[in-house]
Order: sequence, then structure tokens, then C-alpha cells
Amino acid sequence: MHSSPPPDMPSPSAGVPRLTRTGRLDYFKTTGHISQCRGDPVGRRRWRPSSTASRRTVLTSRTTGDDMSESAAPAPSVAVAFHSGYGHTAVLAEAVRRGAADAGADVAFVPVDTITDEQWQRLDDADAIVFGSPTYMGGASAGFHTFAEATSKRFVEGRWADKLAAGFTNSASKSGDKSNTLAYFAALAAQHRMLWVSLGLAPGWNSTTASENDLNRLGFWAGAGAQTPMDGGTDTVHPADIATAEHLGARVARQAALLAAGRHALSATA
Ligand SMILES: Cc1cc2nc3c(=O)[nH]c(=O)nc-3n(C[C@H](O)[C@H](O)[C@H](O)COP(=O)(O)O)c2cc1C
Repeated sequence: MHSSPPPDMPSPSAGVPRLTRTGRLDYFKTTGHISQCRGDPVGRRRWRPSSTASRRTVLTSRTTGDDMSESAAPAPSVAVAFHSGYGHTAVLAEAVRRGAADAGADVAFVPVDTITDEQWQRLDDADAIVFGSPTYMGGASAGFHTFAEATSKRFVEGRWADKLAAGFTNSASKSGDKSNTLAYFAALAAQHRMLWVSLGLAPGWNSTTASENDLNRLGFWAGAGAQTPMDGGTDTVHPADIATAEHLGARVARQAALLAAGRHALSATA
């Protein structure tokens, strides 16, 4: 059955739902964005750098028109748990971190091969965890698997159940069997009873008018896939892949805000 929102509650398309300090759900429009993607005639989106001046996020109530930047509910927390053997995947991890932070999240940056007790706690407390690894030998790296196996007690206890999860990977070949790594992250998330967040972008670079500078230039859906030449430095990570990773971080942060607000609203009426 179709149901419409009550008159004082705009539809979700009106803006980003956040809780006000009084615990009430309101919708906000945001000005300032991590990136600006303009549609071209076939709907593809390209990376355009945004100006520094537009990066401040202002929350304006769609209900009252008030500036609610200071009174919005606490930011959602996102953790980026990644391994990088030679630094290329770390560049993407930083982009995911930046995207989530610019979208309003409190972000924990966790290189899993040096994870500390405090960082384990940040993962346990997070609303969402984004997994990242290079693709080595057609799958996630041994460094990431060591971390994943160390989560088994949390798996048994269901400690990460109902958190959001997402993933990104990087390899030297355009394909390089990266899909296996993203599929592995989704399986790991499912074992932890987490909720998978896809990349949420149309594929780029797949027509005669397309460009390798398109967002999602490698055409992944499950997560963010990047390609970096095996003999290149960390400065050769492709800008479109960096922008795609930023997009993933922002998307996860927004979904985490939505979920946290919804759960809070439901618990208030229970
Ligand atoms: C042990 C090893 C295995 C690799 N296996 C693959 C692979 O299966 N497919 C691929 O395209 N690239 C493969 N590569 C290349 C890496 O994925 C690529 O260099 C990546 O940028 C490394 O990321 P990092 O600097 O974060 O470690 C492999 C590299 C290493 C060291």
C-alpha cells in the first residue's frame, strides 16, 4: 500500500534526515559537497573539483528554514579498516576517510596491520566499517586476512551485527580479479551480520564518448575498484579512482546518518 508522509514531514528526497537536539527527525539540505558531479548527455558523471569555499557543510531545516548546523544530532561514526603493502591502497583509504569526514562523519582511520586496542574499540563503536585491501593473487592481501581472522570472536558474539559495511580495492591490472576482493569483503560483512552498502554509481568509461576520468571508470557496483600501475609511486593512483573512493566514503557516511536517525526515532516511539 502506498503511504505518503504526514504533512509536517517532507519526503526523504527533500534532504538529509538528521535528528534535532530534541530528538525530532528533520530534513536538511546541505550546501558544500565533497565533489561536484555534473551529468553529461548520457547521464555519466565526471569528477569536478569543488572550490574550498563550497566545502563547509551547512544544514538548513527544510521544515523551519533555520540554520541547524550547531544543533544537529551527533555525527555518525565511520571506520576505514584497510591494509596496504606499498601505500597505493592507503591513498584510496585516505580518500574514503576524507569523503566520509566531509559528509559529516566522525572517522576512525585504521591500518589493520598496526591496529591498536583503542582502534579495535573504534571499530566496535562505529556505525559503519569500510574494508579496504589491495588485490594480491586474486583476492584480499594476507595482511587484511590476518585482521579478518582476528575478528572471529566478534563474529561469534555478533558484535558488529547491523552495522553498515562497504569495501574498496586496488590492483595493477584493469581487472586483476578485483571483483573477488570486493565479493570477499561482502561475505565477511555478511558473516558479521552487517548490512552491505554498494558503490551507488553508474559505470564510467564504457562508451565512445566516455573518458578514463569518469567516476567509477572501471565499472564496479559492489564497491570501489581502482587500478594503479605496478611500477608507479603512490602519486600515480588515478584521480578518478581517488574521487570514486571519496564518493564511497560520503555515501557510507550519509547512509550511516540515515540509519542512526531512523533507529533513534524508532527507539523514541517504542
Ligand atoms: C603479492 C602481490 C600479488 C599481487 N596480485 C595481483 C593480482 O592478483 N592482480 C593484480 O591486478 N595486481 C596484483 N598485484 C599488484 C597490486 O595489486 C598493486 O601493485 C597494488 O597497487 C598494490 O597496492 P598497495 O601498494 O596498497 O600494496 C599484486 C601485488 C603483489 C605484491
